[in-house]
Amino acid sequence: MEKQRILTGDRPTGQLHLGHFVGSLANRLKLQNEYETFILIADVQALTDNFTDPAKVHANIDELMLDYLAVGLDPKKVHFVLQSSISATNELFVYYLNLVTLARAQRNPTVKDEIKQKGFGDSLPLGFLVYPIHQAADITAFKADLVPVGADQLPMIEQTNEIVRKFNSIYGETLKEVKPLVSEFGRLPGLDGQAKMSKSLNNCIYLADSAEIVEKKVMTAFTDPTRLKATDPGHLEGNVVFTYLDAFGQDKEKIAEYKNLYVQGKVGDVEVKKFLATELNNFLQPIYQKRLELAKDMSKVRKILATGSKYGQEVSGQLLTTVRQAMKIVELN
Ligand code: TRP
Repeated sequence: MEKQRILTGDRPTGQLHLGHFVGSLANRLKLQNEYETFILIADVQALTDNFTDPAKVHANIDELMLDYLAVGLDPKKVHFVLQSSISATNELFVYYLNLVTLARAQRNPTVKDEIKQKGFGDSLPLGFLVYPIHQAADITAFKADLVPVGADQLPMIEQTNEIVRKFNSIYGETLKEVKPLVSEFGRLPGLDGQAKMSKSLNNCIYLADSAEIVEKKVMTAFTDPTRLKATDPGHLEGNVVFTYLDAFGQDKEKIAEYKNLYVQGKVGDVEVKKFLATELNNFLQPIYQKRLELAKDMSKVRKILATGSKYGQEVSGQLLTTVRQAMKIVELN
């Protein structure tokens, strides 16, 4: 039986961090063995809120590829695709725009939140409002069966499937609906204790951080604000140091021991943080070293993206042909 196909993607707007690892990369490492996997670098989508800063988007395409390969996503199993190289998506997008009302686009809860957060007010660019429709074009172009996503992306899947049903009801069975594969992995809090690790909150440990930087950052981590001296009994809930130890630490026995000492007020924050820095670096150093090694030959890295994109062009080109036929678009030749 043929493997089912999955599609995931990221906007190239920054390097990947431990939050990405927990939220999506760990899942992808597993899925690449079970599914035919497409990973899309969504540079066109990134421009919808970064169109005045194309240099940032451009630079982060290399960074994303380095992060992907360094964590162990394998080009033998994964097709890495650059969104801007897939012209079929842009054409599909134009056809799909007819199938979505303005009111529906404005109802997408994720976009609604983002619009509020970014404070667009009356100057909301249309490109931003309709990026989920462009994303629907991505998802259908690659004929994905499953889209592994975080909860914030569920509205995109829902909107995609509405477009699929509407398209099929007007032009005949052409597109297929997709299923979300909601990540069972959790969300990692930021170094400062905020719910989310996020570049804009400046509370991240990046996959590209050196051992020294990791050590420095760990020393600033949020622990237990009620604890004034090392002899005060400490709390583990909401304590970033222990959350990270649980997520990335290997020495489970020692972690349990430190938890015990901590709640009894028998170990200081600094000692536990030093232990966390060691454990984190045990996890991160192989990734960091591999990243350095890969970065020495960027032409090889870019070739991987070019090869995946070429395959992506083929697959999406086939789908576009069937869409054009269904829509009675004239083929001149
Ligand atoms: N919107 C996704 C994000 O912000 C990125 C993305 C673009 C994507 N196209 C996709 C994800 C297709 C899954 C499938 O992370």
